[in-house]
Amino acid sequence: MTYQHIDVRPIAGALGAEIHGVDFSRDLADEVVAEIRRAWLDHLVVFFRGQSLTPAQQLAAAKRFGEPVEYPFVQGLPDFPVITPIVKLPHEKVNFGGLWHTDTTYQPRPPMATMLYALELPPYGGDTMFASMYMAYETLSDGMKDLLAPLTGVFRSDKKRVSDTRAARVADAPKEDVSKPKIAEHPIIRVHPETGRKALYVSLAHTTNFKGWTEAESAPLLNYLFEHQTRPEFTCRFRWEPGSIALWDNRCALHNPINDYHGHKRVLHRITFAGDAPKG
Ligand code: SIN
Repeated sequence: MTYQHIDVRPIAGALGAEIHGVDFSRDLADEVVAEIRRAWLDHLVVFFRGQSLTPAQQLAAAKRFGEPVEYPFVQGLPDFPVITPIVKLPHEKVNFGGLWHTDTTYQPRPPMATMLYALELPPYGGDTMFASMYMAYETLSDGMKDLLAPLTGVFRSDKKRVSDTRAARVADAPKEDVSKPKIAEHPIIRVHPETGRKALYVSLAHTTNFKGWTEAESAPLLNYLFEHQTRPEFTCRFRWEPGSIALWDNRCALHNPINDYHGHKRVLHRITFAGDAPKG
């Protein structure tokens, strides 16, 4: 695929590309935005380096790609409620969202995408991993694809492991009542609304069971899928620098921030974008 305005450099075989030649502090030409969008659909997650943005500039840049929406459980920045600080403090042992997931799939219309901008990073560690759910789907056997095709998944906000990862930030800046779980149902095999490709749409963080099945009945198959979907060859790993941006597609990519920097601070600013109801 060729580009006239940007330089796109894949970082792994499965997904992920660095894009060079973009300065988000300036007004981007429509052709540049269109090429970034094309590269993003092709690579599932794209990365930019060396950006220097105020919250207002990050928000302005984000609006070129979609409609920013608020995160339900933690307050955003005082003047920018759609910007959620993603923070781990030196004394903390748990990192926000620190397990494989796509963002807030317990909502009826989960966010299309997420833009994360790095401000303060540990001296080592704190990378984020991503995994292609196209590859996870395409590498299943025909028998497994047929079994999963009619299934609906139940997605909840209150699975213990993911709830624990947001507890400190909810305590600092609570918003909606976390004791009231959010629950949504989505097809397990999702057809991407823009590319038309099929993706495996489950995650360890939020999927509790198949609709009409108990959690105990669902567990063996879900556990198989959770393991399968994060096979190393489906993933890429991004090493952050201050000023890096990642823009990922929540409809076809999982992510997992690695919690390997205890004693150090990590701060990023996150914007999620309105999405549609997943369709099978
Ligand atoms: C998130 O799940 O949005 C946080 C990702 C990260 O901290 O790298």
